[in-house]
Amino acid sequence: MSRIAYVDGVYRPHRDASVHIEDRGYQFADGVYEVIAVRGGKLVDERLHLVRLRRSLAELRIEGALADAPLKFVLREVVRRNGVLDGIVYLQISRGIAPRDHGFPKTARPVLVVTARRSRPANPKLAEDGISVITMPDIRWERCDIKTIALIANVLGKQQAREAGAYEAWMVDGEGRITEGTSTNAWIVTTDNLIMTRGADHAILDGVTRQALIALIRRGGYRFAERSFTVAEAKAAREAFLTSTTSDLLPVVAIDGQPVANGVPGLLTQKLRAEYLAHVAEHV
Ligand code: PDD
Repeated sequence: MSRIAYVDGVYRPHRDASVHIEDRGYQFADGVYEVIAVRGGKLVDERLHLVRLRRSLAELRIEGALADAPLKFVLREVVRRNGVLDGIVYLQISRGIAPRDHGFPKTARPVLVVTARRSRPANPKLAEDGISVITMPDIRWERCDIKTIALIANVLGKQQAREAGAYEAWMVDGEGRITEGTSTNAWIVTTDNLIMTRGADHAILDGVTRQALIALIRRGGYRFAERSFTVAEAKAAREAFLTSTTSDLLPVVAIDGQPVANGVPGLLTQKLRAEYLAHVAEHV
């Protein structure tokens, strides 16, 4: 089956799909995006993704994007046309096409691109053995709560992690507190079993996986606080893990080459992972 992409109102063969050279997404990173997991052909936590999308659009003052109902139709259609049962659907909305000028164009209208792809189930070894992260200064702007396509700092961070043999980089703010990973949210469990993740301030993206897991944690009656933590606190933690649409929940067993506790996935982490996977399976 050949891949199909949706570009500004038209379904096209993926290999021929392209945007205009003066699309503001291309020239200014003037746009927003979402990555939604597909399981059994269904979109996982779609409502939370669409709420976040509307918020990102409003924060960037991008008006006139496709409404939720037709957007949901397009998302399903791209998933269907690509025969994706398990994978992801990606959507991007830019401010539109206009002669290059920093100020908002008067006439442009938003351009929507949607792609979908199958993905193999994540390597089970990642969850069994855990993954390692490095830490680095967070050099991003002050509105990381908006899911914009301006990801160059995240790109450089992820590459630095890969070159260091790590899965992810946890970024650190000016006060020495961890903000989040380059494409994931960061969590620890303290030695007195308090689960912690940074509050959804402007320094992090409020992950949909994060939101879903917080709901499960609250329902389960675990000890939990939305509170930021330092690199030293993370290194002294009993357990650590990360969350995202594409990583689900993965145990972090080393930070900057130093084992977290005894260097194996924590028990609470494994329990939360099982609960999160059960939540995802409810969609199928
Ligand atoms: N990344 N933080 C950042 C900076 C992210 O880019 C992401 C998502 C997350 C986790 O959010 P969610 O749980 O909604 O996926 C946190 C996506 C998957 C990506 O860019 O591919």
